[in-house]
Amino acid sequence: MKLIQLVIIAAVAASFALAMASVAHASSAGKPASPIYGVTIPDGYRQWQLIAPAQEAAPLDELRAVLGNAIAIKAYRDGTLPFPDGTVLAKLAWRHVPSLEFEPASIPGAATTVQFMVKDSKKYAATGGWGFGRFVDGKPTDEAQHRSCYACHQARVKNHDLVFTRFAP
Ligand code: HEC
Repeated sequence: MKLIQLVIIAAVAASFALAMASVAHASSAGKPASPIYGVTIPDGYRQWQLIAPAQEAAPLDELRAVLGNAIAIKAYRDGTLPFPDGTVLAKLAWRHVPSLEFEPASIPGAATTVQFMVKDSKKYAATGGWGFGRFVDGKPTDEAQHRSCYACHQARVKNHDLVFTRFAP
């Protein structure tokens, strides 16, 4: 009788541990990830510091802001190049609309894309150490778009570790 009770307790404990493990797994994984790179939207990125704003003319006609995590901001401050592993850069973009309250002012309209560059020199060795992710409404866009990221960044800013944005004081 005692032995049977022990076996039952052990079985219950084991299945509980398994259930908890799968819950923990589900909360860290399972986030929508970009094709090719597997980049996900980092928690809390909207609280990161501003590196610089940007703007693109029509047809996109967007206002943008490039933000960085703590490792990125430190690298900018110290002038560290290449950016260290753990650097994450975020580019937020919105439609560019005139202010209703003051016509000459331009303000952000609807959000368009959120894009990330994640530095991991081993994992992303084939693409200059950077992994890329572009998201619309929290979902990654297609693979063809993700093929263009490295191509453009490496063609234009190879001499700045594939990063366009300079710190705006
Ligand atoms: C045709 C060129 C081009 C392509 C393709 C491109 N980018 Fe960029 N990217 C830029 C430019 C230019 C900037 C500088 C900020 C701005 O003007 O918007 C930039 C900035 C960024 C930044 C901020 C860091 C930096 O380099 O300044 C991130 C993050 C980023 N892009 C991610 C991506 C992702 C992800 C993709 C692919 C889905 C992508 N980019 C494709 C041109 C490009």
